[in-house]
Amino acid sequence: MALVSASILACDQTRIGEQIIKAEAAGIDYIHVDIMDGVYVENMTYGPQLIRDLKKISGLPISVHFEVCHPETFFPIFADCGADIVTFQLDACSNPLHLIQEIRKRGIKAGIGIGPTYGTERLAYLLPCIDWLIMMSAEPGYGGQPLNPCIYEKLREAQEIMVKTESRVPISVDGGVNGSNGQKLVEAGADVLIAGSYVFQDDAMAERVQNLKNL
Ligand code: DX5
Ligand code: ZN
Repeated sequence: MALVSASILACDQTRIGEQIIKAEAAGIDYIHVDIMDGVYVENMTYGPQLIRDLKKISGLPISVHFEVCHPETFFPIFADCGADIVTFQLDACSNPLHLIQEIRKRGIKAGIGIGPTYGTERLAYLLPCIDWLIMMSAEPGYGGQPLNPCIYEKLREAQEIMVKTESRVPISVDGGVNGSNGQKLVEAGADVLIAGSYVFQDDAMAERVQNLKNL
C-alpha cells in the first residue's frame, strides 16, 4: 500500500482550498507544495502564507518542496508557517548538512531532493542524516511531464544504499506519477507517490487517489 502526496501545482489555482478538502476526503496522506523561485526553475509559485492557510483547512501533513536557488536563504520565512516536512534540491545547496540541521532545529522533518539527471552517489553520505527523500522522475519546474524510466533503477540503487548504511528514509517519487506506472514504482522501492496532474485532472479524484493507494 502506497502513501499518496497530492501536488497542488496541478489544482485549479483559483480553487486550491476546495480541491484539497476533496483530496483529503479521497484519502491522500500528504499535501505537496512546490516552492519555485523563477531562477532554479523558470516557473514561480507560492509563499509561506499559502501554507498557513492550508493548515487552517486541513489536518494533513504539509510537505514543502523547494525548487529554489539558495534554499538556506529561503528557509527562514518558511520556518514558522506550519510546514511539517521541508525538502530542498541537493544541487541548489552548498552546505546541505547545515541546512538539514537548521530545518530539524525547528522540529520540521528535513529532506533532500535529487533531479532526474543526478545519480545516487551522494546518498550514502546523506541518507543517515535526513528524514525524507524525493527522487524526481521529471525535470523540476512543471507538472504534467512524462515520468523518466531511469527512476526505476535509481530507486533500486537507493534501496541498496539504504541497506548498506542501515538508514530507513521514506522515498517519494515526484514527476509523471500515475495509475499506470505506480505499481512498478512501488515494486522498485517507492514509499510515497507524489502526484499532481493524475490526481487533479478531472472529477474522478477519489477513484484516482484510491488507485494509487491500493497499489
Ligand atoms: C515539479 C514538481 C512536482 C509536480 C508533479 O517540479 O516538483 O511536484 O507538481 O506534477 P505531475 O504529477 O503532474 O508530474
Ligand atoms: Zn515537487
